[in-house]
Amino acid sequence: PLVNAKEMLTKAKAGHYAVGQFNINNLEWTKAILLTAEELNSPVILGVSEGAGKYMCGYKTVVGMVNGMLEELNITVPVALHLDHGSYEGAKACIEAGFSSVMFDGSHYDIDENVAKTTELVNICNEKGLSIEAEVGSIGGEEDGVIGAGECADPEECKRIADLGVTMLAAGIGNIHGKYPANWKGLSFETLDAVQQKTGDMPLVLHGGSGIPDEMVKKAITLGVSKVNVNTECQLAFADATRKYIEAGKDLEGKGFDPRKLLAPGFEAIKATVKEKMELFGSVNKA
Ligand code: G3H
Ligand code: ZN
Repeated sequence: PLVNAKEMLTKAKAGHYAVGQFNINNLEWTKAILLTAEELNSPVILGVSEGAGKYMCGYKTVVGMVNGMLEELNITVPVALHLDHGSYEGAKACIEAGFSSVMFDGSHYDIDENVAKTTELVNICNEKGLSIEAEVGSIGGEEDGVIGAGECADPEECKRIADLGVTMLAAGIGNIHGKYPANWKGLSFETLDAVQQKTGDMPLVLHGGSGIPDEMVKKAITLGVSKVNVNTECQLAFADATRKYIEAGKDLEGKGFDPRKLLAPGFEAIKATVKEKMELFGSVNKA
């Protein structure tokens, strides 16, 4: 069964590693991520953006698909199903639908409104035994229509939100969704360190995990990051493998046009990407 993300993140923070959140878009994505987690004996968080939720025919469909796979694939590692960058309404809908974890992204509100809305959702999640992620400062770039200015978080504001009893906190530290531009300045470890000092044991979340140099990711983990979100890298890997299959004309040979064959290289590419990230984050054999 699904679990909330609290225990896996508490363990990650104490053990100085991070759990990967990998966003899902469809059956292939979900199966690839779950099988890789099981093979590597790693905890995992499946992220669902509001856009991906709509694409997959709604949150109830997602919950049904994920629960079905946990059972039919005999998945034994801890798996959390988490709303990614949720609105207040989206978070409530996921709680109703059977998600085990939600992110409320109130970073575009002023801090008082962010605190008020986060407080309400923390209360609901506590009552139902779900984990909740909040955000302070903003992640740059765009993901599924969620656009961020990329401001570094104010550590005092982070403390205010952490003190509400959230399970994990996403703080903007110069990270960006999607591909990083050539002139990117890198992560602000100064901000991360200041946020960690103010928030103590709070597991911190690094969004925009695609394309950050490995050494920076490792350093962020030593400074209190316990969850790293990856989306774009799986998409690029899937697209690249699928393009190669088609360019090689394999869809034209035999039954190569059968979707179960056509989507197989992309599926394997997602598995390889997830494996690489779990090794980098240090979550292998931590289930
Ligand atoms: O919320 C999801 C992540 O922050 C994904 O970011 O697409 O840059 O890997 P990414
Ligand atoms: Zn994000």
